[in-house]
Amino acid sequence: MTLGKITSIVTTLLNAGIDSTASSLLFALTDLALHQEKQQKLLASKNHRANILLIMCMGRRTFPVTKGPARFMEWDTVIGGYTIPRKTCVSLDMAAMVKDERFFPKAKEYIPERWLRNVNDEITKGQEFPFACKPFGFGPRGCIGKDLLKWKCKLELQRLFRTLKFQCHLEYQRLKQFTVH
Ligand code: HEM
Repeated sequence: MTLGKITSIVTTLLNAGIDSTASSLLFALTDLALHQEKQQKLLASKNHRANILLIMCMGRRTFPVTKGPARFMEWDTVIGGYTIPRKTCVSLDMAAMVKDERFFPKAKEYIPERWLRNVNDEITKGQEFPFACKPFGFGPRGCIGKDLLKWKCKLELQRLFRTLKFQCHLEYQRLKQFTVH
């Protein structure tokens, strides 16, 4: 492998990895600081690890770090009655999709429980539509850092919550309106 190729791979991994991990953590903590009742529930629960996963999933919905996957059409394609000519770049607007009430009931509310597994109620309905929220893309070009990110954020949040409690200054409470709107 050439030095140029190695540099390119390492730069991509660093760019894709560092900022996205920091933003994911920051957004998860902002969400919890803005929703004290959920934070108390997390701290009081014996099953921190499971709850942290829900919070991370929720963070991806409330503050998507990326817009979502995009694909370049190699041939003319018809999707939902729309003809998309070849050589068109199609980008999924996940930020809009995660606010769609058809997939995410009470879409404007911060409800990490909507990601609970093995629960079949109205609020977990989004899980029936796996493509309604695909923050890491899919298929062979899907994000290769997904698991690394999940573990890093999970460990970091567990560590932080051992000693710290997060609060949002009153002045910044207005941030709430940006989280899921
Ligand atoms: C919040 C965190 C992250 C999000 C939301 C995210 C999202 C994405 C998305 C949407 C894609 C395109 C997938 C597709 O087109 O199907 C992608 C690709 C990629 N991601 Fe991530 N990513 C995150 C973290 C990371 C981390 C931590 C790393 C590496 C350490 C990483 C490395 C990559 C690489 C190398 C690709 C390109 C894969 C390819 O083209 O074959 N990402 N990511």
